[in-house]
Amino acid sequence: MNDLKQTIATLRSSFIQALEQVGTLQELEHVRIAFLGRQGQLASIMSCMKNLSLEEKKLCGPLLNELKQTSEQLFNVKKEALEQQNRQQELKKKQFFDVTAYRAEPFKGGLHLYSHIIQELEDIFISMGYQVVDGPEIETSFYNFEALNIPQDHPARDMQDTFWLTLPGYLMRTQTSNVQIRTLEKQRPPVAIISAGRVYRNEATDASHDFMFTQLECLVVDKTISLSNLLGTTQTFLQRVFGNEKLKIRARPGYFPFVEPGIEIDASCLFCTDGCSICKRTTWIELLGAGLVHPNVLRACGVDPQEFSGFAFGMGIERLAMLKHGITDIRLFHGNSLSFLRQF
Ligand code: DAH
Repeated sequence: MNDLKQTIATLRSSFIQALEQVGTLQELEHVRIAFLGRQGQLASIMSCMKNLSLEEKKLCGPLLNELKQTSEQLFNVKKEALEQQNRQQELKKKQFFDVTAYRAEPFKGGLHLYSHIIQELEDIFISMGYQVVDGPEIETSFYNFEALNIPQDHPARDMQDTFWLTLPGYLMRTQTSNVQIRTLEKQRPPVAIISAGRVYRNEATDASHDFMFTQLECLVVDKTISLSNLLGTTQTFLQRVFGNEKLKIRARPGYFPFVEPGIEIDASCLFCTDGCSICKRTTWIELLGAGLVHPNVLRACGVDPQEFSGFAFGMGIERLAMLKHGITDIRLFHGNSLSFLRQF
């Protein structure tokens, strides 16, 4: 009997102690289950009652009832206090809600750098009255070489290491100049087109060479086209791409089988006036291959070179974008690094 009284007293004090240590509603729930739950300590003492004599029951019954009531009261008081504490914490959070705080932006997709630069180039040429055309990347050797005045055993074929396909006579185009032929075959002069697209070269890669890159091709054919049209057009276009009206160009002789005369066009360095590492201390940056369309090319397309003349140029689009955005490795363009791509 005294044992039971003692057990009731111990249970009361250990319940009170456990309540004092509780700091959260979750902890409180654990304490409730352990003491007041259906299989808790209080219930197990209650179940001992049936073994007691009537006398003992009369004595212990009220003690146990009292313990049950007070523990439930204490539990409710604690619960209310913890709920109040939670409400206050929530309120505090709301009070000091910082509307300017940084929140990570969910990542939105965007156009690839290629699309940006190609659209920019196309806008410039469309505003000058040009037509934008497209050409195939899988090409026959006729359009990539022969019609461009590069016969089979011509040493110029070595200038562009070619990926030949297993299908005889087919290759991955090494230059966008194939579009010149495909256009002149379909369209009679006057013709003024540009075409941007991928080209492929079987070459080792490094920071400035890749086995796959993009070129911009331009072709103009009409009755009185001369080198001055070519120079005027390239200067205007480069000034607009680089947003620099002071940009100058210079022409040097260059050899490309499909133009005569062939020239290479350099732009005045965008980064210095007296030589820097980008222009290799020359103050000029090599950008385009160009020239007046070779009579053999016109003839191959059924255009009479006595009546018509034309200019053409080709350039690497990556090189342009690299200069414009300060990119130092061409392989980044299709490396799929999101940290690179997200910058544009
Ligand atoms: N197709 C040449 C190349 O890939 C670039 C080029 C040079 C294009 C002169 C032209 C041109 O249209 O007239 O190296």
